[in-house]
Amino acid sequence: MTQPLIAPSLLAADFANLQRDLELINRSEADYLHFDVMDGVFVPNISFGFPLLDAVRRHCQKPLDVHLMITEPDRYIDAFAKGGAATIHVHYEACTHLHRTLTRIRELGCRAGVALNPHTPISGLVDVLEQLDVILIMSVNPGFGGQSFIPHTIQKIRGLKQLLVANQCPALIEVDGGVGMANAQALLTAGTDVLVAGNSVFGADDPLNAIHQLKNSRQP
Ligand code: DX5
Ligand code: ZN
Repeated sequence: MTQPLIAPSLLAADFANLQRDLELINRSEADYLHFDVMDGVFVPNISFGFPLLDAVRRHCQKPLDVHLMITEPDRYIDAFAKGGAATIHVHYEACTHLHRTLTRIRELGCRAGVALNPHTPISGLVDVLEQLDVILIMSVNPGFGGQSFIPHTIQKIRGLKQLLVANQCPALIEVDGGVGMANAQALLTAGTDVLVAGNSVFGADDPLNAIHQLKNSRQP
């Protein structure tokens, strides 16, 4: 039984104790660190950018899973690759030339991901499946941590899994927003490979154990 990949979201960490939280992630069973970049235009919030990426890269031993919630991501993907991103997710809704953008991300040596807002249908992916390493399904409207999971996400993932299998596409399915032990098992059964978790990890009394629980949440 394969275990899911776990990507704690830095957005929910304690920035006054960043080194402590990064060392915790290093010791944990997490597979990636999810890094949310918000520009205040694509989403109604501003988070962080290159200076923090530089600090995180120096202290974090886990591959960085960079989620760009920004307009015109093409302007910045080279810099995020150079800054240490292992994966770069751009938003479907923010890309006029998605095929070109995904191709460029791979040329830069990163895994290419596309993120879909809750209202964006999976059908738009059929012509870029070969350019994709991972699909990030948003299970909240992006912009803030700590929001409630949108239940419809489960059937969206089921449909995406079918689409990938039908096209023999090896891309992973990642889910982001309101993910925790209350929905992990259903998400995995539907076809999810990677769980992003912010508040359910960093807001837990024991974040290491919260990661361990998520890692072991697939039921036989
Ligand atoms: C939301 C971000 C998420 C967020 C998840 O816009 O993309 O990655 O940090 O946080 P939780 O898990 O608390 O919903
Ligand atoms: Zn995210």
